[in-house]
Amino acid sequence: MPRRLVVLMLLAFPLFAQAAQAQAALIPQPSRIEAGHGSFVLDRNVRIDAPAGRRAHEIAAFLRDRIREDSGIALRIGAATRQPRIQLRIDPSVQGEEAYRLTVTPQRVVIAAADDRGLFWGVQTLWQLLPPGHHATTLAIPAVHIDDAPRYAWRGVMLDAARHFIPVALVKQQIDLLSRYKLNVLHWHLTDDQGWRIEIRKYPKLTSVGAWRTEADGSRSGGFYTQQDIRDVVEYARQRNVMVVPEIEMPGHASAAVVAYPSLSCPKQPIVVPATWGVFTDIYCAGDEATFAFLHDVLDEVAALFPAPYIHIGGDEVPKQQWTQSTSSQQRMHDEHLADVEALQSWFVQRIQRDLEARGKTLVGWDEILEGGADRNAVVEMWRGDAEAAKALANGNRLIVAGPFYLDTPIEELTTQDIYRINPFASPAFAGHQDQVLGAEAPLWSEYVTPRNLEAMLYPRVIALAERLWNPDVHDYADFQRRLRAQYPWLDAQHIAYGPEDRDLVDYKLDYNPVQHRWRLRAARGFDDIALHYTTDGSEPNAQSPTFGDVLDRYTAATLKVTPYRHGVPYLTSRMFPMVDNKALGKPVTYLTAPDAHHAGTATQLVDGVIGSSDDYNDGLWVGWRASDLAATIDLLPATPFHSIQVRFLQQSGSWALLPRLVTFAVSDDGKSWRTLQSTPIDVQPMDLRVLVRTVRFDAATPVTARYLRVTAQNYGLLPVGHEGAGKPAFLFTDEILVQ
Ligand code: ACM
Repeated sequence: MPRRLVVLMLLAFPLFAQAAQAQAALIPQPSRIEAGHGSFVLDRNVRIDAPAGRRAHEIAAFLRDRIREDSGIALRIGAATRQPRIQLRIDPSVQGEEAYRLTVTPQRVVIAAADDRGLFWGVQTLWQLLPPGHHATTLAIPAVHIDDAPRYAWRGVMLDAARHFIPVALVKQQIDLLSRYKLNVLHWHLTDDQGWRIEIRKYPKLTSVGAWRTEADGSRSGGFYTQQDIRDVVEYARQRNVMVVPEIEMPGHASAAVVAYPSLSCPKQPIVVPATWGVFTDIYCAGDEATFAFLHDVLDEVAALFPAPYIHIGGDEVPKQQWTQSTSSQQRMHDEHLADVEALQSWFVQRIQRDLEARGKTLVGWDEILEGGADRNAVVEMWRGDAEAAKALANGNRLIVAGPFYLDTPIEELTTQDIYRINPFASPAFAGHQDQVLGAEAPLWSEYVTPRNLEAMLYPRVIALAERLWNPDVHDYADFQRRLRAQYPWLDAQHIAYGPEDRDLVDYKLDYNPVQHRWRLRAARGFDDIALHYTTDGSEPNAQSPTFGDVLDRYTAATLKVTPYRHGVPYLTSRMFPMVDNKALGKPVTYLTAPDAHHAGTATQLVDGVIGSSDDYNDGLWVGWRASDLAATIDLLPATPFHSIQVRFLQQSGSWALLPRLVTFAVSDDGKSWRTLQSTPIDVQPMDLRVLVRTVRFDAATPVTARYLRVTAQNYGLLPVGHEGAGKPAFLFTDEILVQ
């Protein structure tokens, strides 16, 4: 045997083994895969042979570039005469939308498809089959035959760029990942109450004003995509077989637009861009022709930027008080013979639908577009449940399923395995209507998602969804998990900040132990190799800050701030835990009425010395009562002298949390007879949508000595007329009782 050949075989053997593993680790699992004999040797002599046409050449160039990036092997594109080749071929005998056939033999690689879309997916499969081999001169691809096609046509992810802006580079990185796992739709949520993110030339204030908001701490945040950014992203996605569907929300979730142009709402009053989450009453006025002229102009520019045949118009969560109170909207209902405001919403959506159809675009809307009646040509995106799906299907609409795949759900509540096992299409609601089902997508709402945790929320759950929508016939989660774990080295190499499969990245619990006089922060980490960097002076931790593992104990007060890192990459925004020493710390506390079960915290939450955040009642440190008052009695044990009491309350009207009407401090020596120290009425403004934190203080001229302290705060009661939740009970939130 010639010496050169021996060396080649020795080199090829481990490569072959790695490649065989790659073949067994494809995601999504192809419909049919059959291993062959021998392997194809990929080296610089191989040519990529593509059929004529711009797209086919582009696909060949995509393959060439990926091979060069991964291995350093530079292939040339062009018809091969005697060289070994990778041949891309249009072959009408390959049946099925997006289908492809991939054949690897020792002589050549052939990817055949009836059209460009299938050809591109075949290339993605071949890329996954390449063994990892940085700066190799030779790669061995084991022989295989694959016949593959997706089950569902619409396989998507929704990114919400409105609540938190997502930079262009990060959007493109997600398109790379969608494309790698053969998802083909990016639904891009571009407008909402908290921000307008797409440049519209005719209405510059949408972005100069509507893209920016003042946060609770006074900082400004925001951002938007220029039309050039949008074209750039759409083109990047097109090259990768991903269709970008824009969502322009109407008639609700429109505050940012109303801020820019107040005449778009019925009251025409100036408002500010909300910096809180929830549902807001400022919506487009259905009575005014000017609204439709505006939306027509906006859709003109949107339709020109996005070649997709679909435009999503939102349509969800529309509080209609402003329509009820507006003369122009009432006139419209009269003129159009509309029975109620639900019918007016239906009329609004159908008018926009005609506007879109005149441009050759199909309307997509959240399932509320069914309320008051929907045109059957609209595509309905189900988010609320099977009843809405059944309604849409009975009405003849085509359907996209999103509800079971909300990725803003914490990972431990909706795990990768959950995503893999959910089969919404098996529900009786779908029986007999399979031909109306386009597919599904996973929305990632971004109230609590920033560029720091976006990828941890998406992956690996999106990869599980990708397999379910492409090939729902495979069911073995253990096998999927094995193939998924084979993806991690590649994801690591790409610096993708993916998250754990079945638990949150970090779950913090802080409590105070009065016997030890010790605060203990417990951190359940989703990966063992997460390093928790922290500071104790409130400054931002960095990679040089000290770290702790599962537990951090503090015996003195401090302002603790923690940032998780993994592989040197910071994850999540930092979490702050301000700990304050005071005379109520760790003392027994009893409530007259128990807090709301979802916002109860620990039994001693109000006296653990840990102050809640200034903008988020959901941070686990605030305690909430719904439809009832706060009445907390603290046993200071024994009688203790003090000179001040301090309690904080939080208003976040969009989430139905209002300040209390009256706050009272009383003391007692026996727990039976009480003496009032102070009663403070609060002039609550229930329609003020800003985050408000109100501190109520009592200061004594001479110290008060008492055994028991009672703090009562009277709940606002029912939300008033004009509020989005009118007639429903308000929440009351408080975070800590401090006694000095
Ligand atoms: C939605 O989650 N409001 C569609």
